[in-house]
Amino acid sequence: MLAELLVLRVIHVVGGIFWVGSHLFNAFFLFPALERAGPAAGPIMGMFAQRRLFVVLPTVALLTVLSGVRLLWITSGDFAAVYFDTTRGLTFSVSGGAAILAFLLGIFVARPTAMRMGAIRQSLPRHPTSRHVHGSPRSWTRCSVATPCSLAS
Ligand code: HEM
Repeated sequence: MLAELLVLRVIHVVGGIFWVGSHLFNAFFLFPALERAGPAAGPIMGMFAQRRLFVVLPTVALLTVLSGVRLLWITSGDFAAVYFDTTRGLTFSVSGGAAILAFLLGIFVARPTAMRMGAIRQSLPRHPTSRHVHGSPRSWTRCSVATPCSLAS
C-alpha cells in the first residue's frame, strides 16, 4: 500500500506539473509567439504533431486524473462520507472535480477544435501574402494559430 501511494503520488504530482505547466506555457508564450509568426508557424505545429504532442498531453492529463481518483479513493478510506466533511477532503474533491471538468473540456471541446483548425490550415494556400482566402495577410495570420478563422475575422 505504501509503495502504491508513493508511485501514485509521483505520477500525480509530476503529471499535474507537466499538464498544467504545458497549458500555461502554451497560453502565455507559445501561442502568442506562433500567432505573430503567422504562416511560418505551420511547420512548427506540424513538428509538434510529429512528436505526438497532441497524444502525449491528453495521456499525461488522463494519468493525472486517474492517479488522483485512486489517491482520493485510498486517502478517503474507500470514499467514506466523513472524509469529505473535512477541509482536506473538501479541498481535494472540489479541486479534483474542477480538474476532471477541465480534462473533459480539453478532450471534447478544445482538442476537436484544434484538429479542425489543423485541417483548415492544411487546406490554406502556403504563400503568406495570398489574399484569396481571408483577405489581408494579417487576418490570415490571426486565424492560423490560436483562434478559428470564424472568430478571428
Ligand atoms: C490539474 C490536475 C491536478 C493537479 C495539478 C493536482 C495536483 C496535486 C498535488 C500537487 C498534490 C499534492 C498535495 C499534497 O500532498 O499536499 C495533489 C494531491 C492530491 N490530489 Fe491532485 N491534482 C490534480 C488533479 C486531481 C484529481 C482529478 C483528483 C481526484 C479526483 C485529485 C486528487 C488528489 C488527492 C486525493 C490528493 C492527496 C494525495 C495524498 O494525500 O496522498 N487531484 N494533487
